[in-house]
Amino acid sequence: MAQIISISGPIVKIRVDDQNPGLFEVAYVGNQGLIGEVVDIDKNVATVQVYEDTEGLSLGEPVEFSGHMLNAYLGPGLLGGIFDGIQRPLTKLDFRIKKGLKEFPLEKNKKWHFTPAVKEGEIISRGSLIGELPEGGIIHRVISPFSGKVKFIAEEGEYKIDDTVVLTEEGKEIKLYLTHPVRIPIDFKSRKRSKIPLITGQRVIDFLFPVTKGGTASIPGGFGTGKTILQQTLAKWSDADVVIYVGCGERGNEMTEVLKDFSKLKDPKTGKPLMERTVLIANTSDMPVSAREASIFLGITIGEYYRNMGYHVALMADSTSRWAEAMREISSRMNQLPVEEGFPSDLSSKIASVYERAGFVETFSGKEGSLTIIGAVSPPGGDFSEPVTRHTRRFTSVFWALDKDLANARFFPAINYTLSYSSYPDDVSGWWKKLSPDYDDLRNWMINLLQQDEKLQRIVKLLGTESLPEDQKLVVEIANLVKEVFLQQNAFDPVDAHSSPEKQIKIAEALKVIHQMWEKAFIQKGIPVSVLKNQPVITEFIRSKYEIKNDQVQVYDKIIKKIIDVYTDLISTYGE
Ligand SMILES: Nc1ncnc2c1ncn2[C@@H]1O[C@H](COP(=O)(O)OP(=O)(O)OP(=O)(O)O)[C@@H](O)[C@H]1O
Ligand SMILES: [Mg+2]
Repeated sequence: MAQIISISGPIVKIRVDDQNPGLFEVAYVGNQGLIGEVVDIDKNVATVQVYEDTEGLSLGEPVEFSGHMLNAYLGPGLLGGIFDGIQRPLTKLDFRIKKGLKEFPLEKNKKWHFTPAVKEGEIISRGSLIGELPEGGIIHRVISPFSGKVKFIAEEGEYKIDDTVVLTEEGKEIKLYLTHPVRIPIDFKSRKRSKIPLITGQRVIDFLFPVTKGGTASIPGGFGTGKTILQQTLAKWSDADVVIYVGCGERGNEMTEVLKDFSKLKDPKTGKPLMERTVLIANTSDMPVSAREASIFLGITIGEYYRNMGYHVALMADSTSRWAEAMREISSRMNQLPVEEGFPSDLSSKIASVYERAGFVETFSGKEGSLTIIGAVSPPGGDFSEPVTRHTRRFTSVFWALDKDLANARFFPAINYTLSYSSYPDDVSGWWKKLSPDYDDLRNWMINLLQQDEKLQRIVKLLGTESLPEDQKLVVEIANLVKEVFLQQNAFDPVDAHSSPEKQIKIAEALKVIHQMWEKAFIQKGIPVSVLKNQPVITEFIRSKYEIKNDQVQVYDKIIKKIIDVYTDLISTYGE
């Protein structure tokens, strides 16, 4: 019998004798059967990282090895669910779990209405569609994990998750659920370059620093710069079919908020409560540190499962820094040699192994699906040169850098538009051009303007806007308008929280028209910027983003016409 020979926090050493556990095999540790994972084997001593509080555990207590790796249970009932880092179900508002609980994470007695898609005698292969059932706002597709010839297929009806719906001639069974190791990616046919943006409804993101469906993005930001609010906003408004929200080492009450909010809010696409397309994974700061490491991989595995049904999945992890800190703690307990700032030497490959699992794929059944991964990073002191931010930057294609000064000025989202970048604009340009042929022009105009403004801001900071010549003042004032109306967005305003792509285009168009009219007024009549910006039509336009809903964007055409009329009039009458 394997026995405990040393305990250091979550790290337990075990003399294994005649047993032969594998690396990453799940172990049940001590009399209470605490769940852990083998992280090292040296001759007849196995080191296990325990996912629960080890207080009360004693030397000499027995350990059992399970014979399998840490698995995710994948089946209907995940949507709307809340789980801890190793997929134990959490009751709605109570995040405490009994120790050593090996509960089946999905509801065993719930019945699902299954409709078969194959017939007896049919040959199926890996990835074949076996049948469908409604789950939340989507159709849950039961996919075959292997090939074979169908001997039995369940007829249409109500089935529990554990019921066999297919039996093959070869004697293999398919149930409504399957298990898959969280550390091993779920297979697909091929990876594709994504040309479709994940529309988040956040103007600064969608228009300036877009992420594709299947892309990777990071949100680095110091304390209180708005990472959590931004992640939650993305989870609410992204046009993904399924959203996985991993609360990793952050405050427990934030997860309760998500839960309350998402149960009240409706998915704009399906009209169903947002919670019905969402899976929450909570490993908050008050829960054992070691399960944090697993929580992100669990989330990813669930994401890949829905991706393989042909859905677009978005995963948000808040915060990957707390996740990396958990690895640091574990590695120091194991006396591993720290490399940078106490982090283990495999920090970089661990971060890579998360973002690598994002992608836009063709599944074995020929469907397209994607998994987008967006991770928040909390650099201590807001210093972006620290290891977690630095490595994350290497493995993500979008960097939404949150800025302390913007946040202090209550400019939200506090995305610094000079430090941030996205490598996807060329990929999504075709998608946007279908909405508006002017997309590239508008985007280039805005970026250009913000760059000119950035240069002038150095002088403005020293000497004030008044010190600038009139033509430069005009650039600064237009840029201010772009910042106020377009880049700034109030996550708590019912209308402004979410801008459709059409609304984004219209606001950008109106801003560009204002710029053109001001330039014309200045060049033709030398009208000072102070006069140009003080027209009531500008105040009306600033207010419009809070008033014009996504389904009323045609109103912007009237506003644009009015802007042109007002300034045409002003130019012709000015100085008379
Ligand atoms: N988009 C937004 N609109 C309006 N207010 C915001 C927005 N984003 C952040 N805030 C304000 O900033 C505060 C801090 O935001 P948040 O909790 O998201 O920061 P954080 O970066 O996650 O902080 P921490 O480092 O503590 O995790 C919020 O409570 C809210 O008042
Ligand atoms: Mg936070």
